[in-house]
Amino acid sequence: MLAFRIVSRFLARIAPPVALSLAACGCVGTADDPLASEAAALSRPPAITPPMGWNSWNTYGCAIDETLVKRQADAMIASGMRDAGYEYVNLDDCWMATSRDAGGNLRANPATFPSGIKALADYVHARGLKLGIYSSPGPETCVGRGLLGAVQDKHPGSAGHESADAQAFAAWGVDYLKYDRCTATKQEAEAKFALMRAELDAAGRPVVYSINPDGAPSSKPWSTYANMWRTTPDIDPTWKKGFAQGWWSAGIVDILDLNAPRAADASPGHWNDPDMLEVGVTKSVLGGKATLSDSEARAHFSLWAMMAAPLITGNDLTQMSDATRSILTNGEIIALDQDALGAQGVRIQGDGTREVWAKRLADGSVGVALLNRGRSTTTVSVTWSAAGLGSANAHVRDLWAHADLGVLARGTSLPVPSHGVVVLRASAAP
Ligand code: GLA
Repeated sequence: MLAFRIVSRFLARIAPPVALSLAACGCVGTADDPLASEAAALSRPPAITPPMGWNSWNTYGCAIDETLVKRQADAMIASGMRDAGYEYVNLDDCWMATSRDAGGNLRANPATFPSGIKALADYVHARGLKLGIYSSPGPETCVGRGLLGAVQDKHPGSAGHESADAQAFAAWGVDYLKYDRCTATKQEAEAKFALMRAELDAAGRPVVYSINPDGAPSSKPWSTYANMWRTTPDIDPTWKKGFAQGWWSAGIVDILDLNAPRAADASPGHWNDPDMLEVGVTKSVLGGKATLSDSEARAHFSLWAMMAAPLITGNDLTQMSDATRSILTNGEIIALDQDALGAQGVRIQGDGTREVWAKRLADGSVGVALLNRGRSTTTVSVTWSAAGLGSANAHVRDLWAHADLGVLARGTSLPVPSHGVVVLRASAAP
């Protein structure tokens, strides 16, 4: 019933022709027949919960090729990440040749993706995964702007080729498009994002549509067009950079503060995107060091889950430390992120050092994250009423210790390590 309500809400918010065809086929979320799994996957509304997957950018920047991407897909399976819910294998910038072909068609770089994108999509589909791709509404993608420091070749964006590119993505079997403003102007951005939405619908293959407006204004909420929209500058594998106006990269808590006020914009099928995960990333693609400790990485992952953020990893999946793997595959934290209610968690208390975050969940329980932004261990307190539970007593489970804490009256106070979290799930108890 709940699933039906969520799907109905989703259908009410997407373009009428798509909503009608999904509703008319009666296939939304119903097919259990494994033989119909490809058809079922195609008919399910994309991103009804926050998308989970891997993207090439945070570790590899432009240094990608088809062998590397296939290895990441294989590692997603071997590491248990596919079983934990990760699904998308996403190419970021630089997968394409530096120019279109003589007919104006977008094509893969023949040196690095000689088999082409269709073959790569077939490879990941055969393993129960999905393929994502990257383009821009401008004439060029972002990397040609000197993003990586060293001079990089310019790569074509989709400006003026939206229809052909959307058709090509569908023909190749692409399941996810990251569409990054880059060289489109702020003034034209909304119309360009809307245009690609229409062309993706016309091409007829369901895709997760992930946009990066990069500060452009819009007359309608970005959820009108997209499944997810970036709310922040580029993430860096650092706890805090001290975001200032005009900076284009930010640390974990800088991004937390930028994404938190957007909570009301999230709902099933539509997510704020505080950028991809830096858990286990060992070097900043932007040039600096990666400095996240395991405790900071645990906090980063937990807070992204509390904010119902897409969980798109950016690390090398073939070489994960035990700590990284256990963070990324913590099913109890992932369940907070993927909860069917689709409510983005909010900060309910904060004194600059100690914070409490609460996320309403579909079964009436609440996720509670106690965050310590300070330099030494401190005690953080919460009451169940402040967390919105509506019950004085709560069954409480610690989602990192994987331990039941029993029934706790009124609330609790727990020690939280520096730059760390304790994450609880509290359900009403008599
Ligand atoms: C922008 C985006 C990044 C990445 C690069 C690629 O900076 O924010 O996530 O996609 O472009 O050039």
